[in-house]
Amino acid sequence: MKILVATQKPFAPVAVQGIKEVIEQGGHELVLVEKGTKEDMMKAIADYAGLIVRSDIVDKEVFDAAPQLKVVVRAGAGFDNIDLAEATAHGVCVMNTPGQNANAVAELVMGMVVTLIRNRYNGTSGTELLGKTLGIHAYGAVGRNVARIAKGFGMKISALDPWVKDEVMEADGITPIHNLEDLYKNNQYVSLHIPATDQTRKSVNKALIELLPKNGVLINAARKEVIDEESLAEALEARPDIRYVADVKPDNAAMLEEKYPDRVFFTPKKMGAQTAEANINAGLAAANQVVAHLKDGWNRFQVNK
Ligand code: 3PG
Repeated sequence: MKILVATQKPFAPVAVQGIKEVIEQGGHELVLVEKGTKEDMMKAIADYAGLIVRSDIVDKEVFDAAPQLKVVVRAGAGFDNIDLAEATAHGVCVMNTPGQNANAVAELVMGMVVTLIRNRYNGTSGTELLGKTLGIHAYGAVGRNVARIAKGFGMKISALDPWVKDEVMEADGITPIHNLEDLYKNNQYVSLHIPATDQTRKSVNKALIELLPKNGVLINAARKEVIDEESLAEALEARPDIRYVADVKPDNAAMLEEKYPDRVFFTPKKMGAQTAEANINAGLAAANQVVAHLKDGWNRFQVNK
């Protein structure tokens, strides 16, 4: 069968090679469309049984153009780019590859923070992370990796996640927090790891951001949609001590960068999962999952059940 790997943001070549091997060993044919548009994906997909994407949009139009499609794997964690209801309506199984790129994102979180608090290495005195408080908003795979690395910096870490038992956090040396306001009020650094869903979109608003203690730093390597951008701008205006770093640039990034050059830091492109290791982990997992699904309906990580 034919499997399409359509990624606007290409995997590292070493990962593509591994994906190709897994797919061919499974008896299938791989076609690669890199740096393409949704239209490129749609043109290619008519007789494909499997599709591997990253943040690429897979919506009704794509499903309509792909009558043979049986499985889509999002090589990564967040699947807000895929219309799950349409997938189900078209009889397509959608899976993600949870955890596979989590360390890469977590390492970038700490890198962005250090870049910000060392004033982009401009020769002036910055600040340190040792002994500072870090609140992790959602203790999933990325949140746990951030906690593991932040411990090495000597930070005091707490986390909020209604889906994770206190014992799990405590076993990791993390203080569980049960109230959202407390998470923001009690931590100088707050790192967001919530997915973009109908419940979370724009949920990080002015009221929450302004709860941050003095010199608060909000970190977003999750999705730009979870922040209410107007609120963010207002909070940065109202509280000259607050700073914001993100791997997922807000739409008002240019304005914020111009107004607060020392208080915001954005990666030029979303770079969290962009390492050879993460590409290999997520890409190979995706390839194996597609092959397993086409073989016998394997669906352990299905997200449109
Ligand atoms: C994810 O959800 O896995 C991360 O945000 C990485 O997304 P990307 O594959 O588009 O880099």
